[in-house]
Amino acid sequence: MAILSLRDVSKRFGALTVAEAVSFDLAPGEALGIIGPNGAGKSTLFNLITGNLRPDKGSVSLDGRDITAETPMQRCASGIGRSFQIPQPFGHLSVYENLLVAARFGGGISAAEAPDYCMDLLRRTGLAALADRQAGGLPLLNRKRLELARAMATRPRVILLDEIAGGLTDAECGELVATIRDIHAEGTAILWIEHVLHALTAVVTRLMVLNFGRVLMIGVPDQVMAAPEVREIYLGIEA
Ligand SMILES: Nc1ncnc2c1ncn2[C@@H]1O[C@H](COP(=O)(O)OP(=O)(O)O)[C@@H](O)[C@H]1O
Ligand SMILES: [Mg+2]
Repeated sequence: MAILSLRDVSKRFGALTVAEAVSFDLAPGEALGIIGPNGAGKSTLFNLITGNLRPDKGSVSLDGRDITAETPMQRCASGIGRSFQIPQPFGHLSVYENLLVAARFGGGISAAEAPDYCMDLLRRTGLAALADRQAGGLPLLNRKRLELARAMATRPRVILLDEIAGGLTDAECGELVATIRDIHAEGTAILWIEHVLHALTAVVTRLMVLNFGRVLMIGVPDQVMAAPEVREIYLGIEA
């Protein structure tokens, strides 16, 4: 059975259709990449999955259980973790305290276990030296690392990553990919929105293309990237 399923999920903002009958399944432990032009509805899709937005139509299921009416907090407790495209740390708290909040209240980790758990995550995400820094003062790269660490701290079974590789150097991107591969190897299912294709395809086994809120195509990366309609729409290359 799929860990995450969307069935005919639709959402409009006024006259703008941002999701149109979106249906797909994510298998347990699968890594699925999501690409598409700016404004295609990718981040909106994540908000529909996490409960930050409710669909106008359709359903979202986790382990076959309909969670469409659940709050973001309930979905997090059930195992859906996410990073935000625009990082949203508690700016006045330290990096470590941000993780502690996620681990205790999102991940249900005990007060006794949380310190070691959080320090381990800080090391894995390259933030150990910044544990005591105020999160609000971090530059973008470290804010993105903190987004990833916070999502991991909630102990998700499905993790949703929204454009965390953009603007990184090759070395930084390589480190990030290694961390995400580790998360995947531990059995966590991944949905990853990313414009940096080589990072994405180093992890995912399937790609989904969104365009104007619709699923244009879903399949293995080579086939998807070779499809004329994808090359035209996503890469701007004439078919
Ligand atoms: N809360 C909102 N209210 C109105 N329009 C929105 C809202 N959120 C996003 N949009 C619009 O919906 C479209 C899809 O946005 P988004 O999902 O962020 O796209 P993507 O992540 O693919 O770039 C865009 O045109 C955006 O301006
Ligand atoms: Mg987006």
